[in-house]
Amino acid sequence: MFWLLAILAYLLGSLSFAILLSRLSGGPDPRASGSGNPGATNMLRVAGRKLAILTLLGDLLKGLLPVLAAALFGLGVQQQAWIGLAAVVGHLYPLYFRFRGGKGVATAAGVLLGIYPPAALLAICAWLLVFGLTRTSSLAALIATPLSLPLLAWQQAGALLPMTVLTGLIVWRHRRNLRDLFAGRERHF
Ligand code: G3P
Repeated sequence: MFWLLAILAYLLGSLSFAILLSRLSGGPDPRASGSGNPGATNMLRVAGRKLAILTLLGDLLKGLLPVLAAALFGLGVQQQAWIGLAAVVGHLYPLYFRFRGGKGVATAAGVLLGIYPPAALLAICAWLLVFGLTRTSSLAALIATPLSLPLLAWQQAGALLPMTVLTGLIVWRHRRNLRDLFAGRERHF
């Protein structure tokens, strides 16, 4: 059951809502405009608020649903988190889009919500705070994502290893943003 759910999670995670919604709406391809990232932030830049919110919800749900399914089938929290990670890997390296995906923040939020909602709440509050202060989505994600780890270590230690790997992947996918942040040329809203 674990491997079946992990494969299904990867296939679900591979559905890039930014790309699909931009195609459905006939709008600009987020991979070719703005930051070039197929995610909710860039959809807000290039396609407007409505499609950005739909992208955020779709990407979040594809992280949340596999974790809930794993829990429903009686898998433990560590296996739930590995399955959630498979969904995030699908988002980062999607099978249907030549393995060129997004940065995984919304999908990771969905995974965290399924694993331990208070940690997701903490990360979302931190994201909103940093974003409110700096108007910079990448910086908000880079601060908010690792913040949940100490809380997980304390309350859901089984999920710590997969969620640390997940955090590492998200930071890795933000390496261009990190360079731009340090160079003072990162995009703000
Ligand atoms: O969630 C993605 C965000 O952290 C950065 O997106 O488009 O500004 O590179 P972007």
